[in-house]
Amino acid sequence: MNSAPLSGPIDLAGKSGIVTGAARGIGRAVCLSLAREGASVAACDILPCVDTVAEAASRGWPVFEIPCDVSDMRSAKDAVDKAKKLMGSLDFLVNNAGILGRSGKPIEDYGFDEWKQVLDINLNGTFIMTQAVWPYMRGQGRGKIVCIGSIAGRIGGLLAGPHYCASKGGIHAFVKWAAKNGALHGIYVNGIAPGPIETPMIENEPYGPEMVPLGRLGNPNDIAEAVVFLVSQASNFITGTILDVNGGMLMV
Ligand SMILES: NC(=O)c1ccc[n+]([C@@H]2O[C@H](COP(=O)([O-])OP(=O)(O)OC[C@H]3O[C@@H](n4cnc5c(N)ncnc54)[C@H](O)[C@@H]3O)[C@@H](O)[C@H]2O)c1
Repeated sequence: MNSAPLSGPIDLAGKSGIVTGAARGIGRAVCLSLAREGASVAACDILPCVDTVAEAASRGWPVFEIPCDVSDMRSAKDAVDKAKKLMGSLDFLVNNAGILGRSGKPIEDYGFDEWKQVLDINLNGTFIMTQAVWPYMRGQGRGKIVCIGSIAGRIGGLLAGPHYCASKGGIHAFVKWAAKNGALHGIYVNGIAPGPIETPMIENEPYGPEMVPLGRLGNPNDIAEAVVFLVSQASNFITGTILDVNGGMLMV
């Protein structure tokens, strides 16, 4: 068994990989932060990623749009194959795409279809994308996968519904399984559990700075910089962890 390379400074020059849910919010910020550090990034989403790509291009950073529905195996596999062909290697995957679903009602009012839709995108999408990149990463003997979970998967939600909490708790458990199984092949798998972050996802939800010990809601860049750390060689002795990025709302 090969041992892990030593940790070193953040430097993503020559690295390339995929970010899902890249059209807006956290995914967009993740693409830009990774590209700023020198990485080439495939921006995958069901929505057009024109803003993400245009902002990167205006700074001379290589971010490419590859349409992808993470809940559809065919679409995910096609996107991963295209990304590999375009960029040469797949050094990282950021499983960020997700939906919140509706919340705030009694359990008997949740339709099975809405339960399944949230699980399909958040949890199944994370599995599908990870499965699609795995053979490439195993073949290279290296890869860094970061899955965006949630504080809701830790504590059962502040305001989120049962499907969302279950999907995020499932992601946290999947991270640990994948980390154990990837370690042998040089594949790192970690998660991030954000608290409330100001993005379109929560724009109509009643979160406020008074809920956060550090005095403000999260910004997409707060998550993006944590992703940069977990994708880079600065975290070469960290796998299977769920990093809480929540302004002090949850301390464990
Ligand atoms: N914003 C928060 O407070 C918060 C807190 C904890 C965790 N998160 C998680 O962070 C991630 C990003 O959320 P955000 O706040 O940026 O939300 P957002 O709604 O702004 O962005 C989510 C992106 O995912 C894309 N997406 C949805 N379904 C998809 C699919 N099937 N295939 C590909 N892309 C798809 C959307 O089109 C969108 O661009 C999500 O996993 C979310 O659950 C967000």
